[in-house]
Amino acid sequence: MDTKNGPASRIISSVKPGENKNPVAFVLVGLPGSGKSTWARNHPRRLAIASSDHYIRQIAVSEGLAYKEAFEQHNKKSFSLMKERVKSLVRDGKSFIWDQVNLTRKKRASIYGLLHRTHRVVFVVFLTPPEICWQRNLERNEREGQGIDRQRFEMLVKLLTVPDETEPHDRIIRVGHATWHDKT
Ligand SMILES: Nc1ncnc2c1ncn2[C@@H]1O[C@H](COP(=O)(O)OP(=O)(O)OP(=O)(O)O)[C@@H](O)[C@H]1O
Ligand SMILES: [Mg+2]
Repeated sequence: MDTKNGPASRIISSVKPGENKNPVAFVLVGLPGSGKSTWARNHPRRLAIASSDHYIRQIAVSEGLAYKEAFEQHNKKSFSLMKERVKSLVRDGKSFIWDQVNLTRKKRASIYGLLHRTHRVVFVVFLTPPEICWQRNLERNEREGQGIDRQRFEMLVKLLTVPDETEPHDRIIRVGHATWHDKT
């Protein structure tokens, strides 16, 4: 029988925070066009996806707006809808994918703070070189009228800090292009 100081408590105290939690939150990190949503859609576990972009698209359709207009007018609303979705996934103990750019340590620290008690927080970093991301944005803009402008894109490139071992996380996975690392 396990007592207070018996084998079970020794095992529990030796488990690092995050290792004994079942559901996983894959928190995506990457520039626009780096391939986050494509990765999320193709995940073999067909996990739920929380994405503010999803709500922008919904609003655009329901209000007959272009994507860009919907983004400019309903950014806040899309974030709060996404927050509600995350809350309900957490409440239900579901594994899920958090699909936003999540470029800064500050943003990721707040996500980790929100999720680490209930989920293993896995950062999935898309190391697609900025020039390739930009090209994809141009192509997407032609196809769907969705692209961001160059100035904003450059601002996001500057903002990106690739997660490393020094920030709170349970695991970091790097995806793609080994030739491009952070701002080197
Ligand atoms: N591994 C890949 N190889 C080639 N093209 C890709 C790859 N992943 C995504 N793409 C293409 O790049 C474009 C952008 O991909 P995606 O929408 O997944 O990017 P994103 O990171 O979600 O961007 P955003 O932050 O703007 O939502 C799409 O047209 C997609 O088809
Ligand atoms: Mg996307």
